[in-house]
Amino acid sequence: MQTHPHIADLRRALANAGRIAFVPTMGNLHDGHITLMHQAREHADVVVASIFVNRLQFGPKEDFDKYPRTFENDCARLRDAGVDILFAPDENEMYPAPQRYHVEPDHAHVSILEGAVRPGHFGGVATVVLKLFNIVQPDVALFGKKDYQQLMVLKNMVRELALPIEVLSGETVRAEDGLALSSRNGYLSAAERAEAPRLSRVLQHIRDRIVAGDRDFLRLETEAVAELSAHGWQPDYIAVRQRGDLQSPRGDVPLVVLGAAKLGSTRLIDNLEI
Ligand code: PAF
Repeated sequence: MQTHPHIADLRRALANAGRIAFVPTMGNLHDGHITLMHQAREHADVVVASIFVNRLQFGPKEDFDKYPRTFENDCARLRDAGVDILFAPDENEMYPAPQRYHVEPDHAHVSILEGAVRPGHFGGVATVVLKLFNIVQPDVALFGKKDYQQLMVLKNMVRELALPIEVLSGETVRAEDGLALSSRNGYLSAAERAEAPRLSRVLQHIRDRIVAGDRDFLRLETEAVAELSAHGWQPDYIAVRQRGDLQSPRGDVPLVVLGAAKLGSTRLIDNLEI
């Protein structure tokens, strides 16, 4: 695997590379990321991954400084997964001067759910992803469904800005007890780790009820919030939404149930398509 910290070298390495599949990450890789790398291989001649912890998408009180950085380990995992090229810029390479031009996603898409709790987050994600797309110029880009709203925002960005990139998604990878894999799971204490799968269980229950014909979404959401709260969580939202734009369901459309809640000081998110 070639590793390039500099944009110019990466561009040289990718000239005439054939079809490029790209998986952007912030590192601290887990099996969810590795599954995306394998999926990428099926779509391209060259698989490019990036590792960059993007300051723009963290709020002032969020965990940018303590976000886990495990570069050596990540490189070994990418090598094992057969990734051809790693782009690993430092902050100075990506943001040599303060970034003054930003992507501003549709307010309706980013003022809800994660965006309501993390103002500015999706603008920061969209800005760095557009910049990474311009650097790597991939044919295909892959993102996990675990960050469902991020995937929705990026798909819309690519469509509305007519970027010549196909966005593909990977299923959420889970531990045996159902907990969605996430870089932030490492923050959990042993007791919190044992409690953490409850989030996926309440989503699963809502999915089962809806599949069985229950359409009282508000009651299902309220019951799930109550159950999490009763077990020491601080829920931000449990919400049944239409998949395409994550607005409240109107008519008979494909649905997804999304949840976010804090357990101790760790905030977990998850979702299930229905
Ligand atoms: O999902 C992530 O890891 C990040 O949000 C991304 C897409 C790499 C942008 O920094």
